[in-house]
Amino acid sequence: MKSVFFGAVSATALIASAVHAEPKAEVLHWWTSGGEAKSVAVLQEEFAAQGGVWTDMPVAGGGGDAAMTALRARVLSGNAPTAVQLKGPAIQEWYEEGVLADISSVAEAEGWADVLPASIAGHMKCDGTWCAAPVNVHRVDWIWANAAVLEANGIEMPTTWDEFNAAAEKLEAAGIIPLAHGGQAWQDATVFEAVALGILGPDGFQKAFVDLDMDTLKSDEMKAVFDQMRTMRGFVDPNFSGRDWNLATAMVMNGEAAFQIMGDWAKGEFIAAGKAPGEDFLCASVPGDGFLYNVDSFAMFDVEGEDNKAGQELLAELIVGQNFQKVFNLNKGSIPARTDVSLEAFDSCAHLSSKEMTESSDNGSLLPSYAHGMALRGAQAGAITDVVTAHFNSDMSSDDAVNMLADAVANSM
Ligand code: BGC
Repeated sequence: MKSVFFGAVSATALIASAVHAEPKAEVLHWWTSGGEAKSVAVLQEEFAAQGGVWTDMPVAGGGGDAAMTALRARVLSGNAPTAVQLKGPAIQEWYEEGVLADISSVAEAEGWADVLPASIAGHMKCDGTWCAAPVNVHRVDWIWANAAVLEANGIEMPTTWDEFNAAAEKLEAAGIIPLAHGGQAWQDATVFEAVALGILGPDGFQKAFVDLDMDTLKSDEMKAVFDQMRTMRGFVDPNFSGRDWNLATAMVMNGEAAFQIMGDWAKGEFIAAGKAPGEDFLCASVPGDGFLYNVDSFAMFDVEGEDNKAGQELLAELIVGQNFQKVFNLNKGSIPARTDVSLEAFDSCAHLSSKEMTESSDNGSLLPSYAHGMALRGAQAGAITDVVTAHFNSDMSSDDAVNMLADAVANSM
């Protein structure tokens, strides 16, 4: 009798403690630039307003390579963070390791399937369960420009690579750095995939960087992509090596450089510095058709403790919530992942992104970014980036580059 009684009490106490669990989350992310930090602060504030206790684990390094190294170390030591900025096939790779938490109960209660496009929802699922929460849609294939510099030099936003090259030569002659770039592998890859989309076209991009088709990887068109990369290398200043992407954006802002090819997190930097699109800076998709998407998301890792589990549920709910998707993306430069968030408060670049995303989705040219981990597993993406960087930083011929590319991809499979 006594033990039954105590059993009943402790069960109730357990339920009560679960209900009153104080939501806690240690959040690993790589949002450390001005615009990024402002954006992630929105989530921290919403979490705190709901009683959550946030432990920040920022790992600086654009593109997230350093953050992913830190994640691996934490998981291997049996001490995974509660929530992690993770995206693309890396989500499924971690799921296969058996270390992700299932957030289907939140997704179902919040009706995510009704408010997310199927293409985005697909990235958030692991064996039919929800294993990540999407934050946004970043577009990668953008050119950013200093409006006053272009105007002073009688230059329009380029609509072909030839126009880009002609504009760059003119700027160089006028003493302006044509292309602001940071020599880091992920930035080389970002420029490369934007050039590749323009030159290979959406079908060629799909064959090369999604299907890993050997003929396309070794094609004359791919040689033309490397030729253009060699030309671009000539438009970069001598101090580009190792420079962070946001410092390259600052060079465009202050007129030291004219263009940057970068995803629209660069817009987050312009906005955080009080610059206005169409006035201070210009945005245009890179020459050619198609749209390269990069969806940031958070995955929850399997951790002990009711407080941590409550924190994961609260975070997942907030991340896909309408208010967060609006305010975060206004700061971040991206557009909401949810389809039911009004874009009224968003600027012309965001409107262009949304319009071209819909069009490219309708005509089959909406493509995952390989450089930002949306298209391929880590080994394949890494193999491609190694070749891109080796080519950019040497005098390797385009012939050698395509052969090396095909070999590297074949060896990575
Ligand atoms: C992420 C962005 C981030 C950028 C620079 C990209 O891979 O998706 O959210 O701002 O890297 O760090």
